[in-house]
Amino acid sequence: MNLFSGFYKLSPEERLERLEELKLIDSVKKVTLPEELAMTMSENYLFNFELPLGVAVNFNVNDKQYVVPMVIEEPSVVAAASNAAKILRSFTGVFPKRELIGQIIITDISDSDRMIDRLNQHKEYLLEQARSVNLSMIKRGGGPKDIFFDQYQGAVSLYLTYDSCDAMGANAINTTLEHLTSYVESLIDSPVLMAILSNYNPDATVKVTSQVSFNDLGSNSEAGFELAKRIVAASEYAKLDPYRAVTHNKGIMNGIDALLLATGNDFRAVEAACHAFASREGSYQGLSNWSLDLTGQQLVGHLELPINLATLGGTIGVNPTAQWSLDLLGRPSAKELSILACSVGLASNFAALKALVSEGIQRGHMSLQSRVLAAQAGAIGEEIDDLSRQLNQSGQINRQQAYHLLNKMRRKEM
Ligand code: HMG
Repeated sequence: MNLFSGFYKLSPEERLERLEELKLIDSVKKVTLPEELAMTMSENYLFNFELPLGVAVNFNVNDKQYVVPMVIEEPSVVAAASNAAKILRSFTGVFPKRELIGQIIITDISDSDRMIDRLNQHKEYLLEQARSVNLSMIKRGGGPKDIFFDQYQGAVSLYLTYDSCDAMGANAINTTLEHLTSYVESLIDSPVLMAILSNYNPDATVKVTSQVSFNDLGSNSEAGFELAKRIVAASEYAKLDPYRAVTHNKGIMNGIDALLLATGNDFRAVEAACHAFASREGSYQGLSNWSLDLTGQQLVGHLELPINLATLGGTIGVNPTAQWSLDLLGRPSAKELSILACSVGLASNFAALKALVSEGIQRGHMSLQSRVLAAQAGAIGEEIDDLSRQLNQSGQINRQQAYHLLNKMRRKEM
């Protein structure tokens, strides 16, 4: 039995009650960000900017059920993720190597090879210095792991890999790198340009897979096969044309960013890393891969992303909404959360592609967008749902039509 069928038809209070009944939350109390905490998180603080927090349902990732908190301002993203997770049924993911990378950059070098040789000879010494910094991280099994080098036109970069356990780790690695700077400078006898973490680690990726039988994808196996072929064609096309690839990837990030915001993670870092990864073969390409498995009679989706989320540290620990979201998710590890985010990205992509290559995006997306248009036109209370229904029925979901129908509705009531 699907516990969440029709969940979206409940009121927000009823939804919270349902989550409480299912023991996914302790209380139906809504969480807010107090002013004194907000003031510690940013500068020149005035007040909080609000965005809706909703939940996507039906997610089964690595045999664990999740109700996924999502913070997003765009109608249909949460519905699409829930819909896709219902159709796809389950996701399998791995994140074999969760690791941060930081770099110390030295420029204006006459002989880069010689400099790298010298630094390489002292690699163990540098690692020892790096390990002397954050002893609590080392006690937890994390900390600096390795050092390697690369060169770029008269510049050398020393890369430090770092295991930040479940924490974001930005402060930890930056402190370590800055500590290491003076040791590097004394070895090479020239100044370092900068020391900073990199938000990109293409060797530490999350990989997620999901599949759906042709039979479950369409009204019957033949219809499902035809739809699957069109989804594959859409995924292949997104490898060729950057105009399409950007929108394709935007659809993936719809779900990912929403989960990152809800859990207090740094979505700018993840966005930058994913777009660099999308360009790793020299042109910007769609990030997901959909293919046909003719033996299994199914459509198979893969998504690989260099995402590295945190469940501890930074402002996550103090942000009450992030804490509420992590509780709802059953306190996942950083690895589990990263795999879940990638699954939500694949689900978002599937929902968008399925709509795009069949009925088009407007029916599903615009029918939910029509509630925003109703509010924009001035509808209040019950008028919003009434007007949204009328807009959907009229087939013209635009602002002018919303004004027109609202005036008509109000004239009738007079
Ligand atoms: P549908 O088939 O009409 O939905 O799809 P349904 O009534 O059969 O319901 C199926 C399930 O969807 C429900 O299961 C819910 O889980 C969920 P049930 O509860 O019945 O067991 N669902 C909802 N959840 C919350 N609120 C709702 C709601 N309705 C259904 N109101 C749907 C309707 C919108 C889901 C579908 O048309 C869809 O997935 N469309 C895709 C929409 C989309 O991708 N939106 C993202 C924004 S567009 C964009 O930015 C990205 C894009 O440019 C990316 C790209 O180009 O690749 C498109």
